[in-house]
Amino acid sequence: MNYQEFYKQSIGNPELFWKNQAENLHWYQAPEHILSKDDDGYPQWFADGKLNLSYLCIDKHIEDGYGRQNAVIYDSPVTNTKEIITYNRLHKEVSRLAGALKDLGLEKGDTAIIYMPMIPQALYAMLACARIGVIHSVVFGGFAPHELAIRIDDCTPKVIITASSGIEIDRIIPYKPYVDEAIEMAAHKPDKVILFQRHLGADTPGKPYDIDYLEAVKNASPAEPLAVEATHPSYILYTSGTTGKPKGIIRDTGGYATALKFSMKYVYGVDPGDVFWAASDVGWVVGHSYIVYGPLINRNTTILFEGKPIRTPDASTFWRVISEHRVKVMFTAPTAIRAIKKEDPNGEMMEGYDLSSLKFQFLAGERCDASTLKWTEEKLKVPVIDHWWQTESGWPMLANMAGVELAKVKPGSATFPVCGYNIQILNNDGEVLGAGSEGFVTVKLPLPPGNLKNIWKNPERFKAGYLARFPGYYFSGDGGYRDADGYVYITGRVDDVINVAGHRLSTAEMEEIVASHPAVAECAVIGINDDLKGQIPLALAVTKSGNEIAESVIQSEVIKEVRNQIGPVASLKQVILVNRLPKTRSGKILRKLLRSIADNDDYKIPSTIDDPKIIDEIENVYKTHKVGSN
Ligand code: COA
Ligand code: AMP
Repeated sequence: MNYQEFYKQSIGNPELFWKNQAENLHWYQAPEHILSKDDDGYPQWFADGKLNLSYLCIDKHIEDGYGRQNAVIYDSPVTNTKEIITYNRLHKEVSRLAGALKDLGLEKGDTAIIYMPMIPQALYAMLACARIGVIHSVVFGGFAPHELAIRIDDCTPKVIITASSGIEIDRIIPYKPYVDEAIEMAAHKPDKVILFQRHLGADTPGKPYDIDYLEAVKNASPAEPLAVEATHPSYILYTSGTTGKPKGIIRDTGGYATALKFSMKYVYGVDPGDVFWAASDVGWVVGHSYIVYGPLINRNTTILFEGKPIRTPDASTFWRVISEHRVKVMFTAPTAIRAIKKEDPNGEMMEGYDLSSLKFQFLAGERCDASTLKWTEEKLKVPVIDHWWQTESGWPMLANMAGVELAKVKPGSATFPVCGYNIQILNNDGEVLGAGSEGFVTVKLPLPPGNLKNIWKNPERFKAGYLARFPGYYFSGDGGYRDADGYVYITGRVDDVINVAGHRLSTAEMEEIVASHPAVAECAVIGINDDLKGQIPLALAVTKSGNEIAESVIQSEVIKEVRNQIGPVASLKQVILVNRLPKTRSGKILRKLLRSIADNDDYKIPSTIDDPKIIDEIENVYKTHKVGSN
């Protein structure tokens, strides 16, 4: 098949294109209204269709005779456990848990938070919610109780489903105590907490709201899948924005299922029955789309990996998993490859592993540097495909569509727009830019199926953040350009969002915490380049006059508070005290300038700068503190 032709069809006649794709799914009621508008005039897909995600992920395959196929392989080097879950077994686990949720009074449209490590029960919980129309919100385990509390208050769950603990390499993470702390902090109180005991030695005292997971499931009768409207929210996934408050991205059901099914075949090039591995976490969008829903809708075997690329037990773990489970297509973040490369630069730890099953290696989540791409290509000897997308889109927006036609890889580019995405690079005035000019990366509306529906309880933020800046276009928040061959290059966020080891974080949120330190008068938090994590945050603070607290003390207090409030994933490790921050004459902090100096990038001194002498001051401060490339 020819990519250009296929892509043109998707843009020229999106309704016909996606109607055809939707026919690859089983609908209880096939949609007739393919593309329409919601009450706010925002495009929506398959409005009159009815379906169920859990049915598509499980029951359908059993009805088709594949009940004994492996659905999930749970591989946990941190507990030395491997478990194979067939579609039949998945059905049993999910339908019973769904029954237990119904017994607790949960109904279509209710919300449930899932705060769990990478164990099969996390998948069961997501699919059980989807089975009965309950909207789940999975919260990443690396977030602190305070972050969990913010999400509890925003999506007001009837229940929280959790586990007693997780394991980070060799450290027990006390999930349940974090949940208790979060409930204590939150104004909204969920009715019940369903607790899966892992018996890892960190059992906690029971609370009146606790319900034992296994007991609840044992006593429940299996629930049948409920037909929901295609526009029914399947989940809310919180992501960082440009303010301190995370935003709850709402995903629909019918558009999402259609897009995921399409992407498994045409983006990732996998057929039903193949083994697919996304080495991510169910707390991120990659986990939702490509550990759980995408591969299961496509009847793949999905790998659920509870470990890290290194130290569980070493840098050969990924290669063991690929060879042992015969993975055909793998997806990870460049930072994971960089971590492996650092430990094993010559790839010697690959020896002895048969990697012949692997056909494609996909990378995403952050910018992929050319040396990481080259190393992976050399070592794995398969096409290494950088692709670009975000929580909001739910599935790839730019990719080398491996299931259509593999284009030549150009390092630094995530290749071409995926079918359905009319990507345009715009300048500040909203004019479409030609090849070679860098600007704002946008998608001309309508977005294809599967993209965000809205922001939970905040349609104003949805409009302001994504639609208002360039009317008629969705604004991604990223900058980039297109080359003369049509390849698109993403150059990075143009807002206060940073990407640390593939984790999306808000510098504005960190700034709020730094600024709340009693000795700090004002501050800036910026993301600077890091060889391993891609970016790391750096805080610069000006203290209140008369402050006598030492920099090292302020640093350790701020770091502690950021870990307390956001969580360890924030990875804030350095706080530097400065006499003043660079500002415009109107008092705006020049964060971009601070970043460019740290990264040794070329920069122009903004004409509006208050005092250009500050540049030398900042350079000196960076030098003495060994910041970035200085
Ligand atoms: N639960 C609790 N804590 C977690 C956590 C989780 N699920 N995930 C990370 N953390 C903690 C880590 O233990 C670490 O804590 P520490 O500061 O006390 O050591 C901190 O958060 C930072 O973690 P991380 O950014 O993962 O750094 P690391 O040094 O532990 O590991 C890598 C570095 C590169 C190995 C790791 O970041 C990695 O595997 N990245 C891939 C990320 C990825 O796949 N992202 C998905 C996007 S597709
Ligand atoms: P998240 O919503 O957590 O998936 O993060 C999305 C953001 O990560 C995007 O807006 C980009 O800034 C960045 N990102 C994801 N994939 C890539 C990629 N392949 N190249 C460059 N940046 C990427």
